[in-house]
Amino acid sequence: MANWPNLHVSQHPAVRHKLGILRDENTEPKKFREVVRELSWLLGYEALADAHTQALQIRTPIELMDADELADRIGLIPILRAGLGMVDAMLELMPTARVWHLGLFRDERTLRPVEYYNKLPDTANVDLCLILDPMLATGGSATAAIEVLKKWGAVRIKLVNLIAAPEGVEAVLAAHPEVEIYTAALDRQLNDVGYIIPGLGDAGDRQFGTGGVG
Ligand code: PRP
Ligand code: URA
Repeated sequence: MANWPNLHVSQHPAVRHKLGILRDENTEPKKFREVVRELSWLLGYEALADAHTQALQIRTPIELMDADELADRIGLIPILRAGLGMVDAMLELMPTARVWHLGLFRDERTLRPVEYYNKLPDTANVDLCLILDPMLATGGSATAAIEVLKKWGAVRIKLVNLIAAPEGVEAVLAAHPEVEIYTAALDRQLNDVGYIIPGLGDAGDRQFGTGGVG
């Protein structure tokens, strides 16, 4: 396995437990969405470990004290559709974050990303961007999203996935070596139609009850 210092694969037992439920082909969309949300919270927690805080003074019922508040202006960029399921948990962690949707789908014939929606404002008034997408397969969609954000003016970008394939990690870090990737699992490889194995099938279809079982 390559040495990727910017790849953070969660080792938390709660993450590993929930991943088993997520991957199981018998997990229905309702439960699947719940677990996407729970895993997103746990990964968001890890991805924010180096976020900046600033001091503020508060009064407890006993006395005044110095407390902390998040100082980074955070932008959440869910990649439609599947990234939508990760937004609510991230907003619980970072209530002041802004959400900018980016619509990309993977052309299943060429495996290349196609952009169809972009809700970024004119100026990049943000300190940290978190791209949210459950699956990092070939890396085409993530690389395209990072390029869009860089052209827009974003400087600090992190990618939060639930399952990554080595091929996707390689592609993203070859193009954007400074980006940090947080994932719940690094799987074995892609199959010949670009799906992650063992993976979980199609993350969008499984969340929204479209398509078949995989
Ligand atoms: C999935 C997934 C990623 C992309 C990953 O989305 O959510 O965005 O594929 O594949 P890649 O790394 O090879 O680009 P999909 O294109 O299926 O769209 P959907 O979320 O609308 O189902
Ligand atoms: N997109 C998915 O939803 N699943 C994969 O395994 C690959 C791309």
